[in-house]
Amino acid sequence: MPVDLQAVCEIIERHGYQSSALIGILQDIQERMNYLPRKALLQVSKSLDIPLTNIYEVATFYKAFSLEPQGRHTIQVCLGTACHVRGGARILNYLENLLDVKTGETTKDLSFTLQSVNCLGACALGPIMVIDRKYFGRINIQKIESILDQYQDR
Ligand code: FES
Repeated sequence: MPVDLQAVCEIIERHGYQSSALIGILQDIQERMNYLPRKALLQVSKSLDIPLTNIYEVATFYKAFSLEPQGRHTIQVCLGTACHVRGGARILNYLENLLDVKTGETTKDLSFTLQSVNCLGACALGPIMVIDRKYFGRINIQKIESILDQYQDR
């Protein structure tokens, strides 16, 4: 997938080519591209004269950064105890098969990233699936496809 290096340069310029602004620059790249492509990090390394390894250290330290392409939508399935006993793992399994990904991966068309999470603090509604921070409580396999349809890009 081509990386828009022009956009990367604009972001670096906006931050005044300051190496002290590295985290802000990475945040802006992540926001724009949904992940931190290696080519973008190489550009940052060159422009700010920071070794690439240092940039990777920062990028891997913060959970908010991703080095892999992320889907336009993030699906999270709760595997906390309460959700687990109500079938959370079965929901996750079903989604892995439906989307043809393993947990933690992104679909080839970049529509969805599938994740598992621990207790979301809404156990009474379990099992819970969250898409882009929207909660779907008492989820079951029959409901999943019609919910995902709402998120398929047309
Ligand atoms: S265990 Fe899923 S919300 Fe608490």
